[in-house]
Amino acid sequence: MHIGILTGGGDCPGLNAVIRAVSLALINECGAKVSGIRQGFLGLIEKRTLELDSLVVSGILAQGGTILGTHNRCDPFHYFAAGGADVSAQLLAYVAELQLDAVVVIGGDGTMAIAERLSRLGLPVVGVPKTIDNDLPLTERSFGFDSAVAVVAEALDRLATTARSHGRVMIAETMGRYAGWIALEGGIAGAADVILLPELPYELEAVAEFCRAREAEPGYTLICIAEGAHPRDAGMVVHQKLKDSPDPLRLGGVGAVLAHQLQERLGSEVRSTLLGHVQRGGTPTAFDRILATQFGSYAAQLLKHGRFGRMVALQAGALTDVSLAEVAGGNRRVPLDHPLLQAAHGLGLSLGQ
Ligand code: F6P
Repeated sequence: MHIGILTGGGDCPGLNAVIRAVSLALINECGAKVSGIRQGFLGLIEKRTLELDSLVVSGILAQGGTILGTHNRCDPFHYFAAGGADVSAQLLAYVAELQLDAVVVIGGDGTMAIAERLSRLGLPVVGVPKTIDNDLPLTERSFGFDSAVAVVAEALDRLATTARSHGRVMIAETMGRYAGWIALEGGIAGAADVILLPELPYELEAVAEFCRAREAEPGYTLICIAEGAHPRDAGMVVHQKLKDSPDPLRLGGVGAVLAHQLQERLGSEVRSTLLGHVQRGGTPTAFDRILATQFGSYAAQLLKHGRFGRMVALQAGALTDVSLAEVAGGNRRVPLDHPLLQAAHGLGLSLGQ
């Protein structure tokens, strides 16, 4: 058995833990040969691979990023380096040349959509859900999310002490794209007073009023805003538009915009911090190391049993697998009846309404 592994899209803590778990399970249980594909699908187009033996994957469990490298603009059906041409046939020819029996694709929504198209063309694929955004359909968790939430919680803890000392409004902007999972869980874990999500467009005046009411007592307010959050009467703040990308919108900057707008309405000073890629870098939490290891070892079982076109998933706390076709192109946002939103109301938090 010869299996290829690639990591696509943005990096996130836990990728190396999956690479390690898949490789060791296949080597130890089946005597398989495992090849790492460099920089996502780019490695299959530009023929860049390396052998992953037990030595190469030892000591990488806690390492952030990906030892294989990744790429978030490489779509073989629309290849940026060939003027947008479809080079999927070239990719499949290289898979045949390598004599790969299957490819493990570790990635988020864009990567899963490409994997699903390749699987329809006959490539045996197994997907593993990765994204700090936690927004992939049919799995209640992707690895990397817990690590990002831990960063947000720690940042809010730190912002709280300086907010309290100066009597300021402090805003922390999180990642998450069109889903508010990181801001919601990070905001609850870091005791934010206001949590603003893309799923619940906010009223600027309601946020200002909430902060104003706190100016005398307790004297400070901590706001956690998702990068995709926006007021009811305006769209998301787009930081950059990328050409030739399956995911062309780069969000970011809504925290600074909100700071400016609140400053005009409040007596206290307002500051904004963009947490940015700090949420994606660094070592995975223990939870993510375990989840990534479980996902990797489950992926190896799917490979052993020839169950292709599937993505590993976590449902009701249990490992399972779902069809890539059901995942491709989908998105999972915070439902408005989520228990944490209910808890936020109970705690007296503002959700900007
Ligand atoms: O999807 C993961 C993510 O970190 C998003 O939360 C964020 O909007 C985006 O990727 C940032 O992408 P890049 O690393 O290309 O700036």
